[in-house]
Amino acid sequence: MSLRRDAILREMGLGPLWRLRGSEPLEAAPALVAVPPEPATRQAEAVPALERMPVPEPRRVRPDLREGMQQAAIEALAPALPVPRSDVGDAVSGLDWETLEARIRDCEACGLCKRRKQAVPGVGDRQADWLFVGEGPGAEEDERGEPFVGQAGRLLDAMLASIDLKRGEDVYIANAVKCRPPNNRTPEAAELTACFPYLQRQIALIRPRLIIALGRPAAQALLNEEVRIAASRGKLFSHNDIPVVVTYHPAYLLRNLQDKAKAWEDLCFARRTMVGLKAS
Ligand code: URA
Repeated sequence: MSLRRDAILREMGLGPLWRLRGSEPLEAAPALVAVPPEPATRQAEAVPALERMPVPEPRRVRPDLREGMQQAAIEALAPALPVPRSDVGDAVSGLDWETLEARIRDCEACGLCKRRKQAVPGVGDRQADWLFVGEGPGAEEDERGEPFVGQAGRLLDAMLASIDLKRGEDVYIANAVKCRPPNNRTPEAAELTACFPYLQRQIALIRPRLIIALGRPAAQALLNEEVRIAASRGKLFSHNDIPVVVTYHPAYLLRNLQDKAKAWEDLCFARRTMVGLKAS
C-alpha cells in the first residue's frame, strides 16, 4: 500500500489489516458492465480495519439501542418506499443549471422549505463522471448552502481521497432532498418524491458514468425500490441506464466504525466499475 493511501485510510479511521488470500470476495456484480478484477497485487494488499476514533452522538438512533442494533433501527426508521413518482418533474425537465438551482432555492414543494435557512442544490463538476448522492442537508449544510460540509462531509472527503477522488474534480455531490429535515430526521417518502425531479434533472445535466448512493434513502429514491444496504453492497443497480453502487452513509459510518472497512470495499468496487465503464 502506498504511503499516501495509508495516510488517507488512516484519515478515514482505517488501519491496515491483512486479508487472507482466497478469502470470500464480494458478491459478483451483474454483467451491466465488465468490472475488472482486483489486480493480483491487491489481493494481499492491506484492507482497512478500525482504529478507534471519537464517536459522535448518534443522530437518529434511540440512545437505548445497542450499537449492533443501530443499522436495523435506521432501516426501520427509513421511509417506506418505493417512492411514488411525481409529475412535478415536467416543470424542471428542460431547465439549465442556473434556472434549476434558482428553482431549487425557491422551492416550496414540501414542508421542508418552512424551516430551512437555505436549500442546498449540490456542488462540484457539472460534467463529472462520478455522482455521489446523500440523504439531505444537515445543520452546517443548511447554514452554508453546500452539501457534506460537516463531520460526515469530512469523512466523505476522506472516502473520496481513498479512491483518488476529490470534491469538485470529476465529482459532483448532491442530496436526495435539498432542504434540511428538522432535527436531521430521515426524509419522508413524500419529501423524497417532491424533491426527486431536481435530482433527476441534475443527473440528466451531469450525465455521470456512475452514481454512488450514500445510504438507504438515497438508494431508494434512485432505484425506486426497497433497498437494504447490507444486502445491496457489491451489486450494480441502474438508474435510467446509469450504473448505481450502494454503500453506507458517512454519518452512519461515524457511528458504526466496524462498517468502515465495508464502505472502503464498496468504494474499491465502484472504482473498478468505473475502470470497466471507461474501457467499454
Ligand atoms: N448528510 C447528507 O446526507 N447530506 C449532507 O449534505 C450532509 C450530511
